[in-house]
Amino acid sequence: MLHKLFRLLVFTLAITTPVLAIEIRTPETQEDEQAILDQYLLPDGELKDTLDELFTTYKLAQSFGNGTSVRTKDAFRKAGFKFLKGTRITEHPLMPGWVVKLGRANRVHQHVSRIWMAEAMRAVIQEHDLTHVKIPEKFLYHIPGTPQKLVDDNYAVISEKVECSNDRNNRARLRQLPFQTLNEIVTIIKNVVYNDPSPSNIRVLGDGATVAIIDTEIIHWKRGWDVARCIKQFVTYLSLEQKVAIAKSR
Ligand SMILES: Nc1ncnc2c1ncn2[C@@H]1O[C@H](COP(=O)(O)OP(=O)(O)OP(=O)(O)O)[C@@H](O)[C@H]1O
Ligand SMILES: [Mg+2]
Repeated sequence: MLHKLFRLLVFTLAITTPVLAIEIRTPETQEDEQAILDQYLLPDGELKDTLDELFTTYKLAQSFGNGTSVRTKDAFRKAGFKFLKGTRITEHPLMPGWVVKLGRANRVHQHVSRIWMAEAMRAVIQEHDLTHVKIPEKFLYHIPGTPQKLVDDNYAVISEKVECSNDRNNRARLRQLPFQTLNEIVTIIKNVVYNDPSPSNIRVLGDGATVAIIDTEIIHWKRGWDVARCIKQFVTYLSLEQKVAIAKSR
């Protein structure tokens, strides 16, 4: 019975949420890359000076994996970075309020997709007048000594830090979200085919009714997912009441 309800929910969400033509700016040519860099390259200022100083002094390269991950993590630690998660997500006491995200080895446009997916999500927010979903500000930081090409190895993503509860608490808080917020999240998932809508990526803010999507990366191995599959994943994190409320409204 529950299983049936769930399937019906995913189906109705997939067919009834209106989709506008949101452009996702994946770069294909050098001109495309330049246009993204023109808009999102971290501007000169204190933040960039600090990163330049740390990256050049400590010779921080970005190649994780292939046996180099431990050494690279150590280098970042020596430079004063603290890892928030895994080997890629860091912060530094000299840059309060910012998170520095790094790429994964052997990817081209997974990590840097954080930038154009965030842009696409902001476009959905604007087009649909959504008021309960925030997307943190993000910039690209060119890693000194690497080529200019806009690929994962050559850029860090600098993201505004969001004050939010830890993963486990957030999971519970997501299950308390009001219907309107859930509806807005579904609208975003649907319009940009957001394939990683998990509680660690969609964080409930202090008011309990607004969320920030802090991880806007398109996951490489889930690229074949369609809208229904993405929504199906999101809905698994919700309470039965929330599932029913969404299903009823469609
Ligand atoms: N903007 C932010 N503000 C606050 N905390 C953040 C922010 N971005 C990331 N974090 C913290 O870092 C964690 C991992 O970040 P993120 O979700 O962007 O990386 P990820 O792509 O999931 O990493 P991995 O692929 O290694 O699992 C988050 O779950 C959160 O705890
Ligand atoms: Mg994440």
